[in-house]
Amino acid sequence: MNTYHIKNLEEYFQAYRESVTEPETFWGTIAEKNFSWHKKWNRVLSWDFNTPEVKWFEGAQLNITENCIDRHLSERADKTALLFEPNDPKEPAQHISYQQLHGQVNKMANVLKGQGVKKGDRVCIYLPMIPELAFAVLACARIGAIHSVVFAGFSATALSTRINDCDATIVLTADGSFRGNKIIDLKAIVDVALTHCSQVSCVLVAERTGNAIAMVPGRDLAMAPLLQKASSECVATVMEAEDPLFILYTSGSTGKPKGMVHSCAGYMVYSAHTFKNIFQYEEDDVYWCTADIGWITGHSYILYGPLANGATTIMFEGVPSYPDFGRFWEIVEKHKVNQFYTAPTAIRALAKENIEFVEKYDLSSLKVLGTVGEPINEEAWHWYDNVIGKKKSPIVDTWWQTETGGIMISPIPYCTPTKPTFATLPFLGIQPALMDENGNEIEGNQVEGRLCIKHPWPSIARSIWGDHERYRQTYFSAYPNHYFTGDGASRDAVGYYRITGRVDDVIIVSGHNLGTAPIEDAINEHSKVAESAIVGFPHDIKGNALFGYVTLKKEASEKEQTILRKEINELIADKIGPIAKLEIITFVPGLPKTRSGKIMRRILRKIAHKEVSNLGDTSTLLNPDIVNQIREIVGV
Ligand code: PRX
Repeated sequence: MNTYHIKNLEEYFQAYRESVTEPETFWGTIAEKNFSWHKKWNRVLSWDFNTPEVKWFEGAQLNITENCIDRHLSERADKTALLFEPNDPKEPAQHISYQQLHGQVNKMANVLKGQGVKKGDRVCIYLPMIPELAFAVLACARIGAIHSVVFAGFSATALSTRINDCDATIVLTADGSFRGNKIIDLKAIVDVALTHCSQVSCVLVAERTGNAIAMVPGRDLAMAPLLQKASSECVATVMEAEDPLFILYTSGSTGKPKGMVHSCAGYMVYSAHTFKNIFQYEEDDVYWCTADIGWITGHSYILYGPLANGATTIMFEGVPSYPDFGRFWEIVEKHKVNQFYTAPTAIRALAKENIEFVEKYDLSSLKVLGTVGEPINEEAWHWYDNVIGKKKSPIVDTWWQTETGGIMISPIPYCTPTKPTFATLPFLGIQPALMDENGNEIEGNQVEGRLCIKHPWPSIARSIWGDHERYRQTYFSAYPNHYFTGDGASRDAVGYYRITGRVDDVIIVSGHNLGTAPIEDAINEHSKVAESAIVGFPHDIKGNALFGYVTLKKEASEKEQTILRKEINELIADKIGPIAKLEIITFVPGLPKTRSGKIMRRILRKIAHKEVSNLGDTSTLLNPDIVNQIREIVGV
């Protein structure tokens, strides 16, 4: 059996058994047969979830860009690697072949080297979805620099926090980014961020929107002339298997984002192998993932996974609503997309629009439909299946995380029978466990618990940048010897998994992970605010929206409250980004607290959900009367 490409359910079960009984043989064989290495490993895996320490393919040497680009040149030099679809449909798409990608990545690598970037240095990339973003990511990997891509929708404060956390000394950005018919001045955001980052000595600026920007002499350089002059040859730096490849920040339960560190070899093997199987990619297919490269989905399933398989991968600059709500389907028809991967929030938003936006286009090229980022509700699943897939394209509901580097639980299309709202079965090598609140594993089926993973997989994040203890605390302390995901899940009668949502202080809004703590910190900075608590509540399109309970230092009139709401949301947009704005802000005289002073979010959540029939025992609260007062204000 070719375990690199699973083609039916029987093969899946057989490979799964091998992958859990003999993980080292299983992954060792896949790694050896399907990738190019400068030196083979001494040992496939060593691990200890208590330390915690995980090493895959130790002793091996490689460069991921040779696997994603160079090795395809003999057979796929002229094949389109990146297909860039611009924001404006009137602007022509760019087909960037593997040969051209090779040249562009090398040029960018030489530009970085010219600015003194060396192996191990951190490079912050704050670019819109333009080809330079892909070139920059791969150029870092080419020379062994550690990329830290920051989603270009984050605010200046969020950007500076991320630049400083990993001590990046160079930032790549653009003069602006298109968002529908608006231009966002990214360079101005970088300028504000850098007032707090004195170590940054160089900013490379790509030209995209052509709007006027200020350049700081001695620090800022236009990217294009440097690229033009640079050589298109750059020998790849030989990397150790466990050298860091990139840092990607994710929210956590404190205000400080967690810089998840991914390493070279394991990440490459796992992102490539999952891509091949979960999208059943065949040589001439055109694959499209609508995510932004600023998120893990873009790292693993726009760039590394597809390119490691010699695929054609689309990079879309725009949004689903511009110039109208048919844009996604227009692109599917235009490029004859075979695999389409998006988020439930986009599906829900598009399902609300007139069906003509879909029916106008020929979607017959589609073979696989993917979803990721949050639980998909039944209605959205069926719309995706009926209206987009015409019931002939299996839906792969892929569950995974920034921390996992690759897809963990998902159907394999045309192999695993799908079931609405279920991510179904673990991918090869993944050993899930459901735990009860006392830390015991819940055996058997038709059960529900907290989702953990019992054994390492090749692309598990190795640490949190600069804070290994936080890594241990966050993921390995709740359940000894297990990786804790932060999610709840159920397992049905046949062993299919369904992810029920976060069980910690992270709320997923439109597929974006938002920690409550940083948002509360932002609100509390308002001079008139005493305290705040954020909870999630169900929202038709966003999945969840944010509900803020805020106490003020001094009572405010209706009119003052309106102004305060606006100011609070502006503060949040400024500190974190517009994605974290609150849907509802309610001013309350106090927050329900335990006797030890902990805010009882459970009660606030129930009130926001309008589920007040069973609020539980509130008599032990420090201030039990506050619950009825809050209910009255909210009107439930
Ligand atoms: O709660 C789960 C949810 O998204 C979280 C991870 O978010 P992030 O690190 O931003 O990565 C998102 C893209 C991989 C998870 O802990 N999540 C992700 N995929 C699914 C999901 N929840 C339900 N079903 C999914 N398919």
